[in-house]
Amino acid sequence: MPHQIALRFEDGVTRFIDANPTETVADAAYRQGVNIPLDCRDGACGTCKCLAESGKFEMGDYIEDALSEEEASLGYVLTCQMRAQGDCVVQVPASSAVCRTQQAALEAAVSEVRQLSPSTLSLTLKDESLNKLAFLPGQYVNLQVPGSSHTRAYSFSSLVRDGEVSFLIRNVPGGLMSGYLTGQAKPGDRMTLTGPLGTFYLREIKRPLLLLAGGTGLAPFTAMLEKIAADGSSHPLHLIYGVTNDADLVDMDKLEDFAKRIPNFTFAACVASPESSYPNKGYVTNHIQPAHLHEGEVDVYLCGPPPMVEAVSHFIRERGIQPASFHYEKFAASV
Ligand SMILES: Cc1cc2nc3c(=O)[nH]c(=O)nc-3n(C[C@H](O)[C@H](O)[C@H](O)COP(=O)(O)OP(=O)(O)OC[C@H]3O[C@@H](n4cnc5c(N)ncnc54)[C@H](O)[C@@H]3O)c2cc1C
Ligand code: FES
Repeated sequence: MPHQIALRFEDGVTRFIDANPTETVADAAYRQGVNIPLDCRDGACGTCKCLAESGKFEMGDYIEDALSEEEASLGYVLTCQMRAQGDCVVQVPASSAVCRTQQAALEAAVSEVRQLSPSTLSLTLKDESLNKLAFLPGQYVNLQVPGSSHTRAYSFSSLVRDGEVSFLIRNVPGGLMSGYLTGQAKPGDRMTLTGPLGTFYLREIKRPLLLLAGGTGLAPFTAMLEKIAADGSSHPLHLIYGVTNDADLVDMDKLEDFAKRIPNFTFAACVASPESSYPNKGYVTNHIQPAHLHEGEVDVYLCGPPPMVEAVSHFIRERGIQPASFHYEKFAASV
């Protein structure tokens, strides 16, 4: 059975290929139009060295000059020798252009736009071709605003199900995409998606996770939680979801559902505005308990508007906490 390999290039582009357990990852990539830099193809030169971030694979035969023991212990592999024995994520130290691969561009139809609250929208796109759209939960795509040549970046808030995928979108007054979604959008409108993109995605779960979301920064986490609910995990997972006003607090029913389906998943929500009637007040940082940090043996994922990401990163640094890994995504406005 072929395994799926996510090849992540240094310019943020990700390409998914299939690899049979009997072929090398470099051969599988070449067969599918991706040229990982190669020279000897024999495990002797080290040109094809990449970092295997996760997955099961055989290293194959090579000499120490091409890949040292230390590099192998850090997760480096020679893709001209590596054979996948399970789905893998591999970092290629070259740009997608060098490897002559391109981001996929797909077209899909607007299936539904729902106003979850005055400040927040949910967009669902549908097309048969989306069933073939492979992405890592947490990644984003560029969506073209219909009727314009401009695109906006949005994180997938779900996995693809029956050709449908969703996004959680802040309704920015006067915004181009916000204006389209609240004014003109109708089912059947066509939209181009380019991607998947980004390095903010769920890694293999090896220890407890602390997930920190600000506003529509919840989107990548609901996609990650769908994946975790499907695959299972024995590690504690805690999400803190902070918003500014009561109207920004959406998808609480989804989070409650995840808490029922994922045994070790807990979450807390909080609202920053002093006018809020929500019982939990304050910022995400007010709700991080020492127990959530597992004395640093924790992977932290943080996503939201840039000021929130800065504030939370600063809070963690200031307390001298060194998480085992720290990943963040800033929902910066387009320029
Ligand atoms: C990697 C990445 C992933 C993203 N994922 C998401 C996502 O999943 N959900 C989501 O809602 N957004 C996400 N964003 C932000 C998104 O791409 C748009 O910037 C946002 O939706 C505004 O688009 P717009 O066309 O409605 O407004 P624009 O026409 O871009 O902006 C109109 C005006 O509003 C300002 N503005 C834009 N955004 C904000 C804001 N948040 N608060 C206050 N003022 C603002 C702009 O500076 C501009 O002056 C992401 C951004 C990045 C970089
Ligand atoms: S191409 Fe020389 S080691 Fe792989």
